[in-house]
Amino acid sequence: MKTEDLGNSKILNMFFKPAGLLMGSRVRKWLMDPVKTLRIADVQLGQTILEVGCGTGFFTISAAQMVGDQGCILAMDASSGFLKEVDKKVRKANLENVSVIQRDALNTGLESESVDKVLLFGVIPFPLLPLDKLLPEMHRVLKPGGTMSVWLFPPLVHNWVPNIIIRSKLFEHINEQSNVYNYIRT
Ligand SMILES: C[S@@+](CC[C@H](N)C(=O)[O-])C[C@H]1O[C@@H](n2cnc3c(N)ncnc32)[C@H](O)[C@@H]1O
Repeated sequence: MKTEDLGNSKILNMFFKPAGLLMGSRVRKWLMDPVKTLRIADVQLGQTILEVGCGTGFFTISAAQMVGDQGCILAMDASSGFLKEVDKKVRKANLENVSVIQRDALNTGLESESVDKVLLFGVIPFPLLPLDKLLPEMHRVLKPGGTMSVWLFPPLVHNWVPNIIIRSKLFEHINEQSNVYNYIRT
């Protein structure tokens, strides 16, 4: 079964619903300011950003406001249920610089060297996103000099992930703060 088909499945979307409520909850916003995390990831005005596994859009709206009219957010997820929530939030915020895309991130269908930054926030490691397939695809879509930011959650459990990224030789580590790891495409 293709990942997008899985993301359309009624049973899976029903199962994902409680996860979506948690992802977009006020408590999370209170505990974690999305703008602060996006600043650590060095999101800048005018950038084209691929947000992999945007979920219900916890980071999407703030990221779109930060890149402004000259930039754009490609908000990608496999789950149709989550993307409906993102779509609602985008319309409510009156944003025209967000493309909501239902797609398997292992095969984004985006042009090579077309994005300035990739955000992998709370999405790796995940069984549907094996790093040996995801990292080459992220490298392909990033422009030369483009960057990738990874927010690891929960941090201590997944502290082996940065080593895998470095060992791939596709990215070089720039810095790390508050569990956000920034990399540059080699
Ligand atoms: C734990 S959620 C994180 C959501 C969001 N980044 C956040 O922090 O609120 C992981 C997301 O990755 C998506 N996902 C998992 N595998 C995927 C794949 N192969 N392609 C696209 N999205 C995927 C899931 O549907 C889910 O929305």
